[in-house]
Amino acid sequence: MKTYLVTGGAGFIGSNFIHYMLKKYLNIKIINYDKLTYAGNLENLKFISKNPNYIFVQGDICDREKLQQLFEKYDIDYVINFAAESHVDRSIRDPEVFVKTNVLGTVALLDTAKNAWTLEGEFKQGKKYLQVSTDEVYGSLGKEGYFTEKTPLDSHSPYSSSKASADLMVKAYFDTYKMPVNITRCSNNYGPYQFPEKLIPLVINNCANKRDIPVYGDGLNIRDWLYVEDHCKAIDMVINNGKLGEAYNIGGHNERTNIYIVKTIISYIHDNVDPYVDENLIKYVEDRKGHDRRYGIDPTKIKDELGWYPETEFEDGIIKTIKWYLDNKDWMNNVTSGDYKKYYDRMYKNK
Ligand code: NAD
Ligand code: DAU
Repeated sequence: MKTYLVTGGAGFIGSNFIHYMLKKYLNIKIINYDKLTYAGNLENLKFISKNPNYIFVQGDICDREKLQQLFEKYDIDYVINFAAESHVDRSIRDPEVFVKTNVLGTVALLDTAKNAWTLEGEFKQGKKYLQVSTDEVYGSLGKEGYFTEKTPLDSHSPYSSSKASADLMVKAYFDTYKMPVNITRCSNNYGPYQFPEKLIPLVINNCANKRDIPVYGDGLNIRDWLYVEDHCKAIDMVINNGKLGEAYNIGGHNERTNIYIVKTIISYIHDNVDPYVDENLIKYVEDRKGHDRRYGIDPTKIKDELGWYPETEFEDGIIKTIKWYLDNKDWMNNVTSGDYKKYYDRMYKNK
C-alpha cells in the first residue's frame, strides 16, 4: 500500500486530486497536510472524510518539526506539493507570504523528505517528490509559439517568480543530492471547488448575484484552460512513470481570451438559468500590473513519454463547471462569507 503525502490538499486542485486518487485506487493511503488558509476548505473533502485510507493533518509546510513528525509516524512513499499561495493579484499586493510558503515552504518540505528518505547516503527505493508548478514560470508568449520544457524560466509576477524559485530548488535537490523528483507545469485549471477570486468561479458567482464582472485591460489576454481532472490524471501518471529529474508540461490546447470566457459563461446562464443576466454586467477595469499576455502549453513530451491526453473538451467542461457552482450555492456562500467580502471590496472598489 503506497502512502501519499499531499500538501495543500484542501485547496482547489489538491482536493480534486484526492477525490480522483481515492476513486481510482483502493489500495493507497493519502495524508492531506494543509494549513487551511483562506483558500483551504475541508468542505471540499467532506464526501471522503470518513474514508479509512484518508487522513487530514492541519499544518504549515514551513513547519519542519511537524513535517518531521509526519515522516516519522508514516512511511511516506510520495510527496505531492500543491501547497502554495496561488493568486497572482494577491501576490502583487503582498509578495512576502508567497516567498515564505512557495519558496521556503518548498525547501522545508524537500529537506525533510530528503532526510527521511536517505539511508546510508542513498535514497531508499520507490520514493518520489513531485512539485506541482505552473506554466506561469515561463513568462508570457507573443501571438505565436508555445511553452516547451526547454523554454527558459522568465517569470514576471511575485507569484510566478516564487514558483520559478521553488522549481529551481527542486532541480537543485535532484542535481546535488540525486533526490528522486519531478516537476509538473500545468496551464490554467477550471472545475469544482475553485476559490471565487479566480476568473471562472468569480464570473459565475457574480452572474448569480447580478454583480459587475471586472475584466482587466482589453480582455484579450489569453489563458490555456484545462479541466482539473485532466491535470490530476497527468500528476498520477508522472508520479508513476515520470523520468526522474524531469519536468513535464501539462495542457490541452484550449487557448481562449478572457472576454470569450466571460461571454461564454454569461450566455449559458442567460439562455438556461436567468434571462436577466446579460453582457451589461461586464465592466472593463484597470489592467493587472505586469499582466502576462498569453500562455500556451506544448504538451508533446507528456503525451509521447507517458501517453497522457486530456479527456474533457473545453465546451463540455465549462458547462459542467457552471452547473456545479450553480448547484452548490451553499459551498459558494460559505467560502465567500468572512474575509472574501473585504478582499473583493479592496480589489474592485478601491476600499
Ligand atoms: P489553492 O489556492 O486553491 O490551494 C492552495 C492550498 O494550499 C490551500 O488549501 C491552502 O490552505 C494550502 N496552503 C497554503 N499555504 C500553505 C502552507 N504554508 N502550508 C500548508 N498548506 C498551505 O491553489 P490551487 O489552485 O489548488 O493550486 C495548487 C497548486 O497548483 C499550486 O502550487 C499552484 O501554484 C499550482 N497550479 C495551479 C493552477 C491553477 O490554475 N489553479 C495551474 C497550475 C498550477
Ligand atoms: O496559468 C496557471 C495559473 O493560472 C496558476 O499558476 C495560478 O495559480 C492561477 O491562479 C491562474 O493564474 P491566472 O492569473 O491566469 O488566473 P486568474 O483566474 O486570476 O486570471 C485569469 C485571467 O483573467 C487573467 O488574464 C486575469 C483575468 N482576470 C482575472 C480576474 C480574477 C480578469 O480579467 N478579471 C478578474 O476579475
